[in-house]
Amino acid sequence: MDIVVSGIRSTGNLHLGNYFGAIRNFLKMQHENHCFFFIADYHSLTTHPTPEDLQGNVRQVLSEYLACGIDPEVATVYLQSDLPEVAELYLLLNMNAYIGELERTTTFKEKVRLQPENVNAGLLTYPVLMAADIIIHKAAKVPVGKDQEQNLEMTRKFAKRFNNMYKVEYFPEPVPYNFGKDLIKIPGLDGSGKMGKSEGNGIFLAEDADSIRKKVMRAVTDIGPTEENQNMSEPVHNLFTLMKVVSDTDTIDFFLEKYNNCTIRYGEMKKQLAEDIIRFTSPIRDKILTIHKDKTYLGKVIREGAEKARASASKTIKEVRDIIGFKTF
Ligand code: TRP
Repeated sequence: MDIVVSGIRSTGNLHLGNYFGAIRNFLKMQHENHCFFFIADYHSLTTHPTPEDLQGNVRQVLSEYLACGIDPEVATVYLQSDLPEVAELYLLLNMNAYIGELERTTTFKEKVRLQPENVNAGLLTYPVLMAADIIIHKAAKVPVGKDQEQNLEMTRKFAKRFNNMYKVEYFPEPVPYNFGKDLIKIPGLDGSGKMGKSEGNGIFLAEDADSIRKKVMRAVTDIGPTEENQNMSEPVHNLFTLMKVVSDTDTIDFFLEKYNNCTIRYGEMKKQLAEDIIRFTSPIRDKILTIHKDKTYLGKVIREGAEKARASASKTIKEVRDIIGFKTF
């Protein structure tokens, strides 16, 4: 069993793209590894610093992950801010991270572009905190998307640098957790690209039926096929991709045939797609609402998670302090 750490952004709600991308794989991964899932609420302060941001978002995101089937009895589920050990390791790693390499990080440059009025030091040292999150549990693997690969590379760099500096083989160098072909890319409803939260092209797990219907009916299509077995345009291909994950094969074949013999009516296809999406998301949505209301349950999950996570983290910190040379008198 490998130790796996995964940080979850506390900003933004889960959409179908997240579900068929990472989350479905997390559900499997949690049984095959020793998983630590945490909500990255310290990190969120770099962009969302208020108490309202924190309280609303953390509870929602936690409820959504639990509703999807992340099991706190199996995996360790906790809040980053419940681990003071992470803040301490972050401080220690910062002494050994260079301004130049941090300034060159793509995610930092992107944030500078997005919020030029708030280029805080937390943004600059974001990869150091992320490294602390990961190596505090001496993780072997981290599931990361393309956008986080460089940050994970920095984690390996910091781990290795620590080992070299103190002539120890203490921290493992964590590698990406590879889902291989299990990662389904879900397209958005706006005709091109993948589903995301910022683009407004996504369907959220917590979204109500009417809103889903409206979004799907507005999805981009084309003028329709004019020749039999015509190649599909990207927007239409995308609708079929969505159908593949939520509809049954008969339904897909029905509309494929209609496309191929040029009798398809996109309105009819979208109506069916919307109902199939709703059939898929509504049990998850119901669970999200139930869990979100259950403060006692959420409190218990977070307390027990923090306890398990701190057991692992405090062991590491103790050893790290020892290696660095802090002595008690
Ligand atoms: N940076 C990650 C993201 O934006 C979140 C994150 C923080 C993370 N710490 C982590 C992911 C540690 C994996 C491991 O999605």
